[in-house]
Amino acid sequence: LSKKVEDRYNRPIISLRLSITNRCNINCLYCHHDGMMPSNNEMTSDEIFQILKIAKTLGVEKIRFSGGEPLIRKDIVEIIEKTASLNFKDISITTNGILLAKYAEDLFNAGLTRVNVSFDTLDSETYKKITTKNYLKEAKKGVLKAVEVGLNPVKLNMVVMKNINDNEVMEMFEFAKDNGLVLQLIELMKSENCDDNAFSEEYHFDVSLIEKKLAKLAKKVRTRKFMQDRKKYFIDDGEIEVVRPMDNTKFCENCTRLRITPEGKIKPCLLRNDNLIDIITPLREGASEDSLRKIFLEGISNREPYYINDNE
Ligand code: GTP
Ligand code: 5AD
Repeated sequence: LSKKVEDRYNRPIISLRLSITNRCNINCLYCHHDGMMPSNNEMTSDEIFQILKIAKTLGVEKIRFSGGEPLIRKDIVEIIEKTASLNFKDISITTNGILLAKYAEDLFNAGLTRVNVSFDTLDSETYKKITTKNYLKEAKKGVLKAVEVGLNPVKLNMVVMKNINDNEVMEMFEFAKDNGLVLQLIELMKSENCDDNAFSEEYHFDVSLIEKKLAKLAKKVRTRKFMQDRKKYFIDDGEIEVVRPMDNTKFCENCTRLRITPEGKIKPCLLRNDNLIDIITPLREGASEDSLRKIFLEGISNREPYYINDNE
């Protein structure tokens, strides 16, 4: 019962990304809040489990929990434990790392495979500027602990911003290499939650300029075909992955993920909030697994590429 479902653009649904809270302990200046609307009606761990069970029957293989800050939830270890009982291939979390030193070991033992950490700078002033808080030390401790307990890979998410951290890329790469981390360079995206043009104009940095340099330095380049066509550059004994959706039509063409919002709505695309489908209300009203599966399929049929090439 786990044949993979495809959407109208022949994209298989391989991964599910659940934002499980929109509460956060920092406030990053670029934050797209994972595209969510504010809500204080979070799904319970049991409801999350019910949703994951349906996803499993539809062929989903990879689960990622994000936020807000997912480690703020007191039941995060229990959520991972329940998820692990369903035998997905990959269970990961995107976190700011501040609480990671505290939870890494328990999360690993509960069945977490790997973790991505928002980590944009090694400079404490810059960290404060980006996040409004002074938690760089905690975040760094969290990252190192994650490696130590065996989470693998541990990725550093670095949103590259002009005149803020664009001069730190190679230093971040050295830090990543020295500590067994993958550096993920991310181009700043416009967000519905902070989409004033002034913001993106002021801070936008064209990551393709860095990519050109990486291509020259790399001994090997790999493309993650089923992960939005992202490129990975292997340099010395380190690894840099680049996330640059805007001018890459293949990014959306190769998108294989579906999302769930904290309040239990199916969200077909990170960058849209106008085509969500409520699955939690029917679930709470006791709908059968079969009818919940139909709602999932409806969410999948709402999927459309966001970045398209107008010249085609
Ligand atoms: P893995 O490759 O499995 O490690 O996950 P990931 O890198 O997608 O997850 P993460 O939460 O670390 O996100 C990294 C960057 O990719 C962030 O800037 C996200 O906003 C961006 N991203 C993730 N999913 C999407 C998506 O569906 N559409 C777009 N445009 N960007 C996305
Ligand atoms: N543009 C690009 N990446 C973003 N992130 C958050 N907001 C943005 C944005 N506007 C990234 C952070 C975080 C991940 C979930 O999304 O790096 O780790």
